[in-house]
Amino acid sequence: MKFFVDTADTNEIRELAATGLIDGVTTNPSLIVKSGRDFKEVIKEICELTDGPVSAEVTALETDAMLAEAQELLKIAKNVCIKLPLTIDGLKACKALTDEGHMVNVTLCFSANQALLAAKAGATFISPFIGRLDDMNIDGMELIEDIRIIYDNYGFETEILAASIRTANHVKQSAMAGADVATIPPSVIKGLAKHPLTDKGLEAFLADWAKTGQSIL
Ligand code: E4P
Repeated sequence: MKFFVDTADTNEIRELAATGLIDGVTTNPSLIVKSGRDFKEVIKEICELTDGPVSAEVTALETDAMLAEAQELLKIAKNVCIKLPLTIDGLKACKALTDEGHMVNVTLCFSANQALLAAKAGATFISPFIGRLDDMNIDGMELIEDIRIIYDNYGFETEILAASIRTANHVKQSAMAGADVATIPPSVIKGLAKHPLTDKGLEAFLADWAKTGQSIL
């Protein structure tokens, strides 16, 4: 499973990119406002930190205006992936952009039928929002499972990008359900490596090693 980092904080992206574990980045208008930075400037900097897709979201609501914004964003770097909302206008823009060979991430997906439409529109990625469904007491993971079945039934190549991930358990469950990608907040990515028994075991090994009086180098 590929890991995208879900942030517009370039310091966090730089730190995580250095691990070699990051395959791309997703942003949205809320993450841009949180960064406090100019949209195009921050997208350009992120595109220099990763070779993978960097999702940049349009804000227009009508197809033609979405396409005009997309053309502007595509000038920033080769790895810009245009993020479009799951509306009829967004799907029309998706079809036009993917027909031209551009990457598109269709966002704000909350149903399997929406995901089916995005695949038919040629989306590169579909972003089902797990956490926001869980917030409403609807099982977000069931949506990932349903989309996996539908895409496999018809051989759709659209990648399932599990989004709105809040916990390490969401990452594990997305992987088990066959999501192709998970976009994960930096804090959750860092938490994946942690286990108290790892810390305890390491401490014991180092204490015993010290007793040997030896050194590897
Ligand atoms: C990513 O593409 C989404 O914009 C993001 O995962 C949304 O997460 P949230 O529901 O925590 O805002």
